[in-house]
Amino acid sequence: MPEKKEHVVKHGDVTQRVGVETIRARGVDVEKLIKILIANAAAEFASTYYYYTILRMHLAGHEDYKEICEDARLEDRAHWELIVPRIYELGGELPNDLKEFHDQAGCAAAKLPDPPTVVNILTLLLESERCAIRSWSAVCDMTFGKDPRTYDLASRILNEEVEHEAWFIELLAKERDGKSIPSGHFRRGEPGHAPYSKNRGFYNP
Ligand SMILES: [Fe+2]
Ligand SMILES: [Fe+2]
Repeated sequence: MPEKKEHVVKHGDVTQRVGVETIRARGVDVEKLIKILIANAAAEFASTYYYYTILRMHLAGHEDYKEICEDARLEDRAHWELIVPRIYELGGELPNDLKEFHDQAGCAAAKLPDPPTVVNILTLLLESERCAIRSWSAVCDMTFGKDPRTYDLASRILNEEVEHEAWFIELLAKERDGKSIPSGHFRRGEPGHAPYSKNRGFYNP
């Protein structure tokens, strides 16, 4: 009979998690992962979702751009909702201070550009999506083959960030350069549909 292996987490112990120790044993730096997930959550909530609200307002008169900005905005809210529970499952927590949280964001705040022209707003939206792609790709790289749950969540978010980049390339190329660079996108079924990342209607009404 094979020798019974000693488990790291003792019987009935609620101070440790098998769900954490198994991924640590596979080589995940859990503390670093938690830090990055908090930075990404802050980027979704504070750098993009919040500021995209303002950006969308200032696309007044461009109803098509407004609608696409709204999809990106609501999907970033879905990303925030999707990833926050994972931070806690890993033993982390959000700072109990919104300003502190904001300041840890992994992407620059998408503040209304001056002057707030359509081209400036679309450029800002495009570069914000690019930051998101880089940030979620880093999480995918850290977790691939080691932490299937975080990888699954991050890759679902990444799917949508890649779509968002393509949307804003299409809009900016047309608006600024008069060039047609199709994203392949028509429209979401409903605003903020989030086909990959929506957890459940309960979290994202
Ligand atoms: Fe996002
Ligand atoms: Fe996005």
